[in-house]
Amino acid sequence: MKLLIILSGILAFAALAVAEEKYTTKYDNIDVDEILKSDRLFNNYFKCLIETGKCTPEGRELKKTLPDALKTECSKCSEKQKQNTDKVIRYIIDNKSEEWAQLQAKYDPEGIYASKYKKEAEKQGIKI
Ligand SMILES: *[C@@H]1O[C@H](CO)[C@@H](O)[C@H](O)[C@H]1NC(C)=O
Repeated sequence: MKLLIILSGILAFAALAVAEEKYTTKYDNIDVDEILKSDRLFNNYFKCLIETGKCTPEGRELKKTLPDALKTECSKCSEKQKQNTDKVIRYIIDNKSEEWAQLQAKYDPEGIYASKYKKEAEKQGIKI
C-alpha cells in the first residue's frame, strides 16, 4: 500500500514535470499576420531579436524561447505556436531574405536548424 502511494506520487510528479515542459501560451493569440503585414511591427520584433532595439514583453519572451525552441525543434511549442512559427519562418525566408540572414547568423550560425527545417519542408513539398 505504501509502495502504491509512493508510486502514484512519483507518477504525479512526472506528469507535472512533463506538463511544465511547454512554453507559456500567454501570447498565443498574438496576430502574426498583423505583425508580418506591418513593416513597423516586424522591424520592432526583428530588432528585439537581434538585440539592436527594445523588446515588447512578447518580444522578450520570444527571444528567450527561440534558442531552446530551435534546439528542441519546437517540441515544447503548443499547436498554435507551431503554426505561427511555420508561418513566420516561411514569410521571412520568402520576403525578408536580408533579415533571415541576420537571424540565422545570430541564432543558427552553423546552419543546423536551417538544414533540418529545409528537410522537413521538402518532406511537406515546400521548396525553400
Ligand atoms: C510574401 O509577401 C506577400 C505580400 O505581403 C504575401 O502575400 C506572401 O504570402 C508572403 N510570402 C509568404 C511565404 O508568406
